[in-house]
Amino acid sequence: MAVLDQLTSQQAIDLENKYGAHNYHPLPVVLSKGEGVYVWDVEGKKYYDFLSAYSAVNQGHCHPKIVGAMVNQAQTLTLTSRAFYNDMLGKYEKFATEYFGFDKLLPMNTGAEAVETALKICRKWAYEVKGIEENEAQIIVCKNNFHGRTTTIISFSNDPVARKNFGPFTDGFIKIEYDNLQALEEALENNDNIAGFMAEPIQGEAGVYVPSEGYLAAAKALCEKHNVLFIADEVQTGIARTGQLLAVNHENVQPDILILGKALSGGAYPVSAVLANDSIMNVIRPGNHGSTFGGNPVAAAVAIAALEVVKEEKLAGNAERLGKIFREELAEFAKENELVTLVRGKGLLNAIVINDTEDSSTAWDICMELRDNGLLAKPTHGNIIRFAPPLVMNEEQLRDCINIIKKTITEFKK
Ligand SMILES: Cc1ncc(COP(=O)(O)O)c(C=O)c1O
Repeated sequence: MAVLDQLTSQQAIDLENKYGAHNYHPLPVVLSKGEGVYVWDVEGKKYYDFLSAYSAVNQGHCHPKIVGAMVNQAQTLTLTSRAFYNDMLGKYEKFATEYFGFDKLLPMNTGAEAVETALKICRKWAYEVKGIEENEAQIIVCKNNFHGRTTTIISFSNDPVARKNFGPFTDGFIKIEYDNLQALEEALENNDNIAGFMAEPIQGEAGVYVPSEGYLAAAKALCEKHNVLFIADEVQTGIARTGQLLAVNHENVQPDILILGKALSGGAYPVSAVLANDSIMNVIRPGNHGSTFGGNPVAAAVAIAALEVVKEEKLAGNAERLGKIFREELAEFAKENELVTLVRGKGLLNAIVINDTEDSSTAWDICMELRDNGLLAKPTHGNIIRFAPPLVMNEEQLRDCINIIKKTITEFKK
């Protein structure tokens, strides 16, 4: 088989199974093309993408402006490393810091790297500005969090599958219940060694858990009271996904440290970033932190284009409006269908909870039938199905998708 031969779906799956590490359990569908809200498999079947690569493809597949910026920059200059300056990074940093309202940006590539970067900045700030004794800083995180896959990050995960046999783990984290202000207050009281509190504004991987209204604003106020940095991990919730540019904007919260990834590139290229003001970011000096690819010219060009698309195409407003329709329609449907117990979410980050045990295969089996009916979604944590289409969807397409979901679940037989 020549490398460029067109494969059947089964051939592609067999190759991954034989030659790839088995670190994922993909839905059996092999995609070879994408455009806007649609993807096509190798046999030419067309689907609605209702996952958007875990909210990375908010601007839609192969957005011409983003791809154009990428191709243009790729033909000009791709990588210099940070050993030298390049003529794109500064432009991007100015653009993105003004866009999100911070003094400075530190560029990385993946979400997990940006989370690691934020944790390092927070610790350094704690020692050099707040005055905590070296190696004593603690960062508060939430139970059922998902912040990525590095050894430090899984040190404060409570997912046994993500942790088992990867120890020893990194110290310095305190885990509290999500959406529980009293737990946060208790963790902050009488402990002068707390450097930061890191949270997802909506817990995406855990099953799209939306905290109570006012939680983020009150948590930020508690952090301010205790001189602790509020770190928002908006890798999944950011860039218009929840109906605002950032999910924290719903409560007018400006985090001390903002973590972005995924849709920062519209899914075209790995681009992540940490943003903060000078009083925090200036603790980072030459040699403290870095990445060969972080801040490369292609990433810079792609991110500028991706962020411009978000504003030009008013994606936040579209996510807000379509999200309301989606939840209203599915909440109505849930009243009369015993398989769906709940629909929740914000903007176009939503989930339905399937009426079955955590370890049942019902959610997976429904996703298989959704696939057969032309819509791709994936279960997250057992019996929950996440629905997160590209934000360039229009109302007609959304209503078509709602009909597919309703029909599939109505006809589903366990
Ligand atoms: C909230 C959050 N943080 C961090 C990450 C890690 O991002 P990456 O997979 O790019 O490392 C994810 C990925 O799903 C995420 O949802």
